[in-house]
Amino acid sequence: MADISEIQTFEHDVLVIGAGGAGLRAAIECARLGLKTGLVCKSLLGKAHTVMAEGGVAASLGNTDNRDNWKIHFRDTMRGGKFMNQWRMAELHAKLSPERVRELEEWGAVFDRTADGLISQRNFGGHRYPRLAHVGDRTGLEIIRTLQDFGVHQPIDIYMECKVLNLLKDGPRISGAVGLWRETGRFVLFKAKAVILATGGGGRAWRITSNSWEYSGDGAAMAYEAGAELIHMEFTQFHPTGMVWPPSVRGVLVTEGVRGEGGILLNNKGERFMFDYIPERFAAETADTVQEAARWLEGDPGARRPPELLTRDVVARAINTEVKAGRGSTHGGVYLDIASRRSAEDIKRKLPSMYHQFKELAEIDITKEPMEVGPTMHYFMGGIRVDDDTQMSQTVDGLFACGECTGGMHGANRLGGNSLSDLLVFGQLAGAGASDYIQTLEKAPEVDSDQVMEVIREATDVLNREDGPNPYVLQEKLQDMMQTNVGIIRTRAELEEALRQLEDLKREAALVKAHGASQYNPGWHQALDLTSLLTTAEAVARAALIREESRGGHTRDDFQGEREEWGKHNVIISKGESGMNVRTDVRPDPPADLAAIAYASLEELEGTAKVK
Ligand code: FUM
Repeated sequence: MADISEIQTFEHDVLVIGAGGAGLRAAIECARLGLKTGLVCKSLLGKAHTVMAEGGVAASLGNTDNRDNWKIHFRDTMRGGKFMNQWRMAELHAKLSPERVRELEEWGAVFDRTADGLISQRNFGGHRYPRLAHVGDRTGLEIIRTLQDFGVHQPIDIYMECKVLNLLKDGPRISGAVGLWRETGRFVLFKAKAVILATGGGGRAWRITSNSWEYSGDGAAMAYEAGAELIHMEFTQFHPTGMVWPPSVRGVLVTEGVRGEGGILLNNKGERFMFDYIPERFAAETADTVQEAARWLEGDPGARRPPELLTRDVVARAINTEVKAGRGSTHGGVYLDIASRRSAEDIKRKLPSMYHQFKELAEIDITKEPMEVGPTMHYFMGGIRVDDDTQMSQTVDGLFACGECTGGMHGANRLGGNSLSDLLVFGQLAGAGASDYIQTLEKAPEVDSDQVMEVIREATDVLNREDGPNPYVLQEKLQDMMQTNVGIIRTRAELEEALRQLEDLKREAALVKAHGASQYNPGWHQALDLTSLLTTAEAVARAALIREESRGGHTRDDFQGEREEWGKHNVIISKGESGMNVRTDVRPDPPADLAAIAYASLEELEGTAKVK
C-alpha cells in the first residue's frame, strides 16, 4: 500500500473501542451529548465478558433490606479491596450505581421483582446486605441486551468484527486508531479527537479462565504503547468457582449467585471447610457455626453471613489449599452443593443457566447432585490509570478508559457484582469526560501517516515472512506458563521464571508466522493478539514480583499477610526507553470524610446516608 489515502477511513469525534457493557454505556453517553460516535467491537455486538457477571449488579437500592445505603456499599467495597481502591472512584461508584441501575430499568431491563414489585436483590460475597439486582443468573446478558437495544437507536456508528491494532497520536494527544476487518483482512483508519478504551481484561493469558478468546488485554497494551500508565496489575481475580469437569469446559464460570442463594462448599470428606478460613478482618460479620449459617439461610436478620460469602480472594485461596492438601474432589476441585439447601423448583427458577449449564455440559443435575468447582482466572483489578472523575489517562491527552481495562476502582480484590455497576458508572463518566475534553480542543488532531503505515507494516510482516513460530503454539506456551508461575499463590522464584520465559516468548513472537492469506485468517488474528497478551502478562508478572506482601488477589507464599508499608503504595507500570518500567508511588492520604465511612461501624452507617 503506497499511502494512507488508499485506506478506508472513518472520522469521529470519539471512537469507543470495545462494545461490552462499558463501551456501550460510554458510546450511549457520547451520542446523547451530541458527539459523532463510533463503536468498534472485536467480535459481534453483544458478545462480551459482561455476560459472565451472571449473579447481579451491585447497587444499594435497599429494596430487599432497607438498612442498605451508599455508605455501606462504599465501606464493603473498600474492605473487599483491602483499602487499595482509589477512594474517589469507590465513592463515585457507590453513590451513582443506584441511579445507573434505575436508568437501565427505564431503558427496558427486566429485573426479577420482590413481592412488592421492586427490583429484587440477592446476597453476594463481601456485600453486607442483599444488594445484587438480578435477572435469574443471566444479569450480565440482560444488561448487554438492554444497552444494545437502547444503543442501536442512538446515532452511533457500529463497526463489528474489527480488531484495533494500535492508537495514533498527534504529539501528546490521541488522534485515532488503526484497525483490521477480521473478515477481509483489510485495514481501516479511524480518525478521532478522543478515544475511549473499553476492551476488558487479559484473562486469556491463563490456561484456566472464564474469559473468551477476545480478552487478550488489547486496551491495556495499546494504552501502554501510547504512553499511558498501568496501575495495580498484580491484582488479578481468580473467581473461586469455575467448572472443573469435563476438560473441555474447565474454567467456565459457576456464578457466585449459587452461594448467594445458600450453596455450600464441601471437601472430599464432606466437611464444610470455609469455617476454617475466616480472616480476622471479617470475623465480626461472618457466622462461625453451621447453626448460625442455617439461621441466616432461613432469613434471620440477626444471623451473620455464612463463610461461603467471604470475598473471592479468600474463598479461592481456601479451595486451593483444600485441593493441595488432598481433600479435593474427583477432578481436582471441591464440591458446591445447592441441592440440599434449596428445592428443585427454587434452583430452576433462581439459577436457570447453572441448571442447564451443568445438565448439558457435565451431565450433572444440580437439583440432585453437587457441582465440582475450582478457581478460574476471571478479572483484572489492574489496568489503565485514569483520572477518577473524568476517566482520562493522566499521561495521554484524549485517551479515556472505562470498565475492566482500567485499574484502581476495586483495589486489591473486586466484590462480585461491582463489575456491572462499575461499567455503568464509569462508562457514563468516560463519555462525559470525553465530551468535556473535546470542547477544549482548538483544532482536530492530525493523523501522522508514518504511524499508520508502521502499524500496517508490522501486522503484514506476520503474513509475509517465509517461516516462523506458530502463533497457536506460542499462546499455549504462554497460558501454561502463566498458570504455573503467576497463579493464585506466587513466589519470587516463580515470578522470575515467568519473566525469563516471557523474554523468550517475546523473542519468538517477534518472528511469528501466520500461514495463508489475509482473508478469514484466524492464525493471523491470534498472532496479532499475542502482542497484547504478552504485554499484559509481563505487566502482571513485574508488578507481582515487586509487591512483597499478600493482599487480595495477589498472594505471595514468600511474603505472607498484608504489610502496612505496602498498603501505602501503588505499583505503576509504564513504557520506558528500553522496556517496561516498574515503580511504586506513594498513595495520597484518603479524604477524612471517606476514611471515616470506611472505618466506621455498621451501626453508625445503617439508614443514615442519602445521596445528595
Ligand atoms: O459469579 C458471578 O456471577 C460473577 C459476577 C461478577 O464477576 O461480578
